Amino acid sequence: EFSVGTSTKIDNGNFFLFRDDGGFFAITAVCTHLGCIVTKIDNGFACPCHGSEFSADGKVIGGPAPRALPWLKVSLTPDCELMVDADEEVTQGTKLAV
Ligand code: FES
Repeated sequence: EFSVGTSTKIDNGNFFLFRDDGGFFAITAVCTHLGCIVTKIDNGFACPCHGSEFSADGKVIGGPAPRALPWLKVSLTPDCELMVDADEEVTQGTKLAV
Protein backbone atom coordinates (compact mmCIF):
# COMPACT_ATOMS: atom_id res chain seq x y z
CA GLU A 1 0.00 0.00 0.00
CA PHE A 2 2.92 2.39 0.69
CA SER A 3 5.47 2.13 -2.10
CA VAL A 4 9.10 3.20 -1.75
CA GLY A 5 9.42 6.88 -2.58
CA THR A 6 5.92 7.88 -1.52
CA SER A 7 4.51 10.19 1.10
CA THR A 8 0.96 9.91 2.42
CA LYS A 9 -0.95 12.42 4.49
CA ILE A 10 -2.77 10.65 7.29
CA ASP A 11 -5.55 12.99 8.38
CA ASN A 12 -6.50 10.89 11.40
CA GLY A 13 -3.47 11.81 13.46
CA ASN A 14 -2.21 14.76 11.43
CA PHE A 15 1.05 13.38 10.13
CA PHE A 16 2.77 12.43 6.91
CA LEU A 17 3.95 8.86 6.45
CA PHE A 18 6.96 8.41 4.21
CA ARG A 19 8.65 5.36 2.79
CA ASP A 20 12.08 5.49 1.23
CA ASP A 21 14.96 3.08 0.73
CA GLY A 22 15.70 3.27 4.46
CA GLY A 23 12.20 2.33 5.61
CA PHE A 24 9.16 4.09 7.01
CA PHE A 25 9.16 7.37 8.90
CA ALA A 26 6.54 9.87 10.00
CA ILE A 27 6.67 13.64 10.40
CA THR A 28 3.94 15.59 12.12
CA ALA A 29 1.75 17.91 10.10
CA VAL A 30 1.18 20.17 13.11
CA CYS A 31 3.12 23.42 12.79
CA THR A 32 5.36 24.17 15.76
CA HIS A 33 4.34 27.82 15.71
CA LEU A 34 0.67 27.84 16.68
CA GLY A 35 -0.53 24.44 15.59
CA CYS A 36 -1.94 24.91 12.11
CA ILE A 37 -1.70 21.99 9.70
CA VAL A 38 1.14 22.26 7.22
CA THR A 39 0.94 21.19 3.60
CA LYS A 40 3.50 19.17 1.72
CA ILE A 41 5.24 21.10 -1.01
CA ASP A 42 7.88 19.97 -3.50
CA ASN A 43 10.89 20.41 -1.24
CA GLY A 44 9.35 20.32 2.23
CA PHE A 45 6.36 21.71 4.06
CA ALA A 46 4.61 25.08 4.24
CA CYS A 47 2.25 26.44 6.86
CA PRO A 48 -0.67 28.48 5.51
CA CYS A 49 -1.24 30.43 8.71
CA HIS A 50 1.84 32.60 9.19
CA GLY A 51 4.18 31.41 6.47
CA SER A 52 6.55 29.06 8.22
CA GLU A 53 8.48 26.81 5.88
CA PHE A 54 10.22 23.55 6.65
CA SER A 55 12.69 21.43 4.72
CA ALA A 56 11.87 17.89 3.61
CA ASP A 57 13.20 16.53 6.92
CA GLY A 58 11.21 19.08 8.92
CA LYS A 59 13.85 21.69 9.76
CA VAL A 60 12.68 25.30 9.94
CA ILE A 61 13.84 27.27 6.91
CA GLY A 62 11.60 30.32 7.25
CA GLY A 63 8.86 32.03 9.20
CA PRO A 64 8.05 32.18 12.90
CA ALA A 65 8.09 28.44 13.75
CA PRO A 66 10.37 28.01 16.77
CA ARG A 67 11.50 24.46 16.05
CA ALA A 68 11.52 21.64 13.53
CA LEU A 69 8.51 19.46 12.79
CA PRO A 70 8.88 16.46 15.09
CA TRP A 71 9.40 12.99 13.72
CA LEU A 72 7.03 10.42 15.21
CA LYS A 73 7.56 6.86 16.33
CA VAL A 74 6.70 4.25 13.69
CA SER A 75 6.51 0.62 14.71
CA LEU A 76 4.97 -2.68 13.70
CA THR A 77 2.16 -4.31 15.64
CA PRO A 78 2.30 -8.06 16.37
CA ASP A 79 0.03 -8.43 13.32
CA CYS A 80 2.61 -6.64 11.19
CA GLU A 81 0.53 -3.51 10.76
CA LEU A 82 2.17 -0.11 10.78
CA MET A 83 1.52 1.98 13.86
CA VAL A 84 2.42 5.64 14.27
CA ASP A 85 2.35 7.15 17.73
CA ALA A 86 1.47 10.81 17.22
CA ASP A 87 2.39 11.51 20.85
CA GLU A 88 5.89 10.03 20.80
CA GLU A 89 8.67 11.98 19.16
CA VAL A 90 11.81 10.28 17.92
CA THR A 91 15.16 11.64 16.81
CA GLN A 92 15.07 13.14 13.35
CA GLY A 93 16.21 10.50 10.88
CA THR A 94 14.78 7.54 12.82
CA LYS A 95 13.20 5.05 10.41
CA LEU A 96 11.50 1.70 10.70
CA ALA A 97 13.49 -0.58 8.42
CA VAL A 98 11.43 -3.26 6.70
FE1 FES B 1 2.25 27.75 11.31
FE2 FES B 1 1.94 30.08 12.54
S1 FES B 1 0.87 28.25 12.89
S2 FES B 1 3.30 29.59 10.93
